[in-house]
Amino acid sequence: MTQDELKQQVAMAAIEYVVPDTYIGVGTGSTANFFIDELAKIKGKIKGAVASSEATAERLKGHGIPVLELNSVDEMSVYIDGADEADAGLNLIKGGGGALTREKIVLAVAKQFVCIADDSKKVDVLGKFPLPIEVIPMARSYVAREVVKRFGGEPVLREGFTTDNGNVILDIHGLEITDPVAMETELNSIVGVVTNGLFAARNADIFLCGTANGVETIKA
Ligand code: 5RP
Repeated sequence: MTQDELKQQVAMAAIEYVVPDTYIGVGTGSTANFFIDELAKIKGKIKGAVASSEATAERLKGHGIPVLELNSVDEMSVYIDGADEADAGLNLIKGGGGALTREKIVLAVAKQFVCIADDSKKVDVLGKFPLPIEVIPMARSYVAREVVKRFGGEPVLREGFTTDNGNVILDIHGLEITDPVAMETELNSIVGVVTNGLFAARNADIFLCGTANGVETIKA
């Protein structure tokens, strides 16, 4: 099975978690795109979707799925999104696509978080995938120095990339993240950090993991 077939498989499985007559949150990335294409087939069953990025909003609208601003939605049944890494406790690294801040905000309003990914994203310890941090541009160097001082690692500016919020991304290479909740909290306390790509304080509730033998459902 190709990686795209595995992504397709989990995207289809995630449709089971879409609650009729509710608003849902939709993530960003190639796996989320497969999900959006599946969602299009049942679009009449939901009230609408809140997008975690401009790219996702465009794809949803392209399918004729109603897209709402988060400020006009006070309840969302589920948030469905991919991940760059997932550990056994369903703590995640996200933000490979640079949408981490809006993803975290949309997730905050959702009752349930269903993560969809192929099994290459499963890890014992988070950190092999460089941890993205969204930073206010003028704080870039300060934040990089603080990260190295507190956690080590090697911050690399994501060249030529600006987030939907007008900020930059530092990707932190070489971390071994044994306490993701503590690291997420401390990173967010550094002045100039908008948010970081650890989804641990609020982790996934369910991980639909695409394997060659079918979809494995892992619960936190
Ligand atoms: C975007 C994300 C994505 O969920 C993550 O990068 C996984 O993407 P893909 O499904 O393309 O592997 O966090 O900011």
